[in-house]
Amino acid sequence: MENFLSISKCSTAQLQELLELSAELKKSYKNGLRDLCLAGKSLAMLFEKTSLRTRISFQVAMADLGGHALYLKPEDIGIIGKREPAKDMARVLSRYVHGIMARTFSHDTIIEFTRFATVPVINALSDWSHPCQAMADVLTIKEHCGRLEGIKIAYVGDGNNVARSLAFACAKLSMKFVCASPAGYELDADSIGRVNDIAADTALQISDPIAAVKDADIVYTDTWTSMGQEDEKAKRIKDFEGFQVNAQLLNNAPDSVKVMHCLPAYRGQEITDEVAEAPNSIIFDQAENRLHFQRALLKKLLSK
Ligand code: CP
Ligand code: NVA
Repeated sequence: MENFLSISKCSTAQLQELLELSAELKKSYKNGLRDLCLAGKSLAMLFEKTSLRTRISFQVAMADLGGHALYLKPEDIGIIGKREPAKDMARVLSRYVHGIMARTFSHDTIIEFTRFATVPVINALSDWSHPCQAMADVLTIKEHCGRLEGIKIAYVGDGNNVARSLAFACAKLSMKFVCASPAGYELDADSIGRVNDIAADTALQISDPIAAVKDADIVYTDTWTSMGQEDEKAKRIKDFEGFQVNAQLLNNAPDSVKVMHCLPAYRGQEITDEVAEAPNSIIFDQAENRLHFQRALLKKLLSK
């Protein structure tokens, strides 16, 4: 594995290896053991959009492994390609650092980085996917459910970057994915088709959130308005009416169901405060696992 661009580009064996390494590193981290495998290594972190979890968890992961992270905030770099082309940035940064992590609007920008960088490139969220989030989520599901095989994720909301990465993770790791969205906000048919080509009958797009959560092990939601869509916020709040993850919806799910959200959560919109704070909400375990998964990812990609 040279880059971490999207779940679809990784093999099942690579994903399983990363999950095992994440669990191992999490255990040693909790026991206070340090692994300085990235001593002397640097990671450039390019952000076209804001972040709390991704920025801090990558920065702490690099420091914890003995390395160093450089944060380039949206104000520093603006839209990648505006001051200088992504292909030039990729080649310049490759002369300074040992890895590049980027959060971009267009997924093509990340692809362009991988074409020209001579160091590993990590996708830290694009409009198309959020693979680090999906892998931290899968790690969390494994911890809480004791297995991945046959687990059903009911994703209620926008068929966005987070939903897409989860759907691909399900296909690679023998899980099931049902997405319930209002008309016009479904996960695109091409992605659903590709997911089902990887593993038949993995993903299903429906419009009924009640039907989706029935028999679900996990109910997952994300913001209705992703970064870059702020102008559509009022319309989206109206269009997503009936798709809130609330106590009433969860009455249709099994008692053992767990609730997940990648955060940031807009309480009162896609999720109620009550549900986010309930004992079966595992949203902060997910957030913590961003750190543990990314330590494994950085070790795997950068410690060569
Ligand atoms: N979940 C997630 O990626 O959070 P940030 O946008 O805060 O990084
Ligand atoms: N779908 C959201 C995820 C934020 C972590 C966004 O792209 O803004």
